[in-house]
Amino acid sequence: MNIVEASFSDVRVVVHDGVYEPADDTFLLCQYLDISPGEKMLEIGCGCGLVSIVAARNGATVVATDKSLAAVQNIRENARKNNLHDKIDIRQGSLFEPIQRDERFSVIVCNPPYLPGTREDPAYDSAWSGGPDGREVIDAFLSQCTNFLEKDGRVLIVQSSLSNPEKTYLMLETLFHNSTIKAEKRFFYERLLLFEAHQPRQLTTERF
Ligand SMILES: C[S@@+](CC[C@H](N)C(=O)[O-])C[C@H]1O[C@@H](n2cnc3c(N)ncnc32)[C@H](O)[C@@H]1O
Repeated sequence: MNIVEASFSDVRVVVHDGVYEPADDTFLLCQYLDISPGEKMLEIGCGCGLVSIVAARNGATVVATDKSLAAVQNIRENARKNNLHDKIDIRQGSLFEPIQRDERFSVIVCNPPYLPGTREDPAYDSAWSGGPDGREVIDAFLSQCTNFLEKDGRVLIVQSSLSNPEKTYLMLETLFHNSTIKAEKRFFYERLLLFEAHQPRQLTTERF
């Protein structure tokens, strides 16, 4: 069997078959996480767990979710290997389904499937295909995230220039008092963008 490994700083993980292998988007999120000890973080779509484990290594308490059973089993193994299993609460389910209505986080992060691609495409993969315009998970995540943030909480979300970042920016402007592109990585065919938004406005999100 081919064993795939990845690492960031002193965190090392293995990547199981069928689970997203950490890539530039994952490392961008790890690099600009800026999480402090004692923070409560939620990661939606944790994959093999590198981002959540880096956050826990920095002293955060983490809830990590993924809709894929393979991903959930993978992060469990990696959390144990890094001796951080008591800092990460791992749950399976889509988007915010595994989160209780009254749970609140100081930071919510997501590296969603953001590339245009539908189930009819031969190369479709739910780890990175986000529907015809790449926005299925992005839009659903943004529409719900403020319901689970503390008053001064923040959101970090990665996406590609190929999936309408202008719409993300407009949604964040509507939902938050402060939003910005925190980091960017350029390739010849696309840009990866890391959005950060602070201080939810507590609006209802029906307009999206
Ligand atoms: C691009 S991968 C990112 C994985 C990991 N966070 C990383 O940065 O390496 C997207 C992850 O989101 C998960 N995912 C896709 N749709 C989801 C949904 N509706 N709810 C929760 N997780 C989802 C996939 O299973 C996959 O693990």
